[in-house]
Amino acid sequence: MFELKLEKNWYDAMAMRSSVRRYTGAPDKAQLDRLGVLCRKLSWQGVTVRMFRGPGLRSSIKGTDVYAVIVAKQGTPMEMEGFMGEALVLEATAMGLGTCWLGAGFYPDIVSRNVNLQNDEAIHCVIALGKADLKPAEHKRMPLDKLCGMTEEQLAALGAWQKDAVLAARIAPSAINMQPWTIKADGAGISILERGVLYKKYAALDRGICMLHAAVGAYHAGREAMWKKVEGGYAMRA
Ligand SMILES: Cc1cc2nc3c(=O)[nH]c(=O)nc-3n(C[C@H](O)[C@H](O)[C@H](O)COP(=O)(O)O)c2cc1C
Repeated sequence: MFELKLEKNWYDAMAMRSSVRRYTGAPDKAQLDRLGVLCRKLSWQGVTVRMFRGPGLRSSIKGTDVYAVIVAKQGTPMEMEGFMGEALVLEATAMGLGTCWLGAGFYPDIVSRNVNLQNDEAIHCVIALGKADLKPAEHKRMPLDKLCGMTEEQLAALGAWQKDAVLAARIAPSAINMQPWTIKADGAGISILERGVLYKKYAALDRGICMLHAAVGAYHAGREAMWKKVEGGYAMRA
């Protein structure tokens, strides 16, 4: 579960990514073709990722009409939608494109019609994609000690991969930046667990995004993540 071939350049992409709501244009044909190939690779384990161009995005997104839709089969853990979607986000960022996850910023009826949504499928989010002037992002996130109760030095003492995984997980995006997770790290691995928040609608999807970041961080340190379902979230060994 959560098997995916990660790319080395997704690590730097995490530092460059922030939500873009004003674009200078739609991706060009070569970029769309590349994203289309990736969408096919991301379409398994219960989700299908498809690109569209045209109506569907609400007016909070300006300058592009291109978006990716994540369709989940009934019974698929919502974390998978975040995991696969964030892979698309990081690849698009590595290509120099801007992105924005959208839970509310799209028209569900138009998008559902576009994908010919079936009774056993659901769409929770789309991702806007377009040309943008990317700069290293300033991520407003909870401090490390609140996130995992440890300092960077304490994490590094556990292992380089635990440190890189937790630092990468810290900057993961989430709906209204709620960061609805807490992280437990020890010598064996790290766990990404739910944290009590008021707005829970996307908490599991957010957790999947956070898991992808953690996996990319561990991969940067030379380790491949394996995930296991645990009470309240997922645990990673690498
Ligand atoms: C699941 C999810 C849903 C989101 N929905 C919206 C949305 O409907 N409209 C919007 O403008 N931003 C949306 N965002 C973007 C978040 O507000 C943003 O990721 C968060 O505030 C962190 O900021 P950053 O992405 O710039 O790092 C969403 C993000 C996620 C992960």
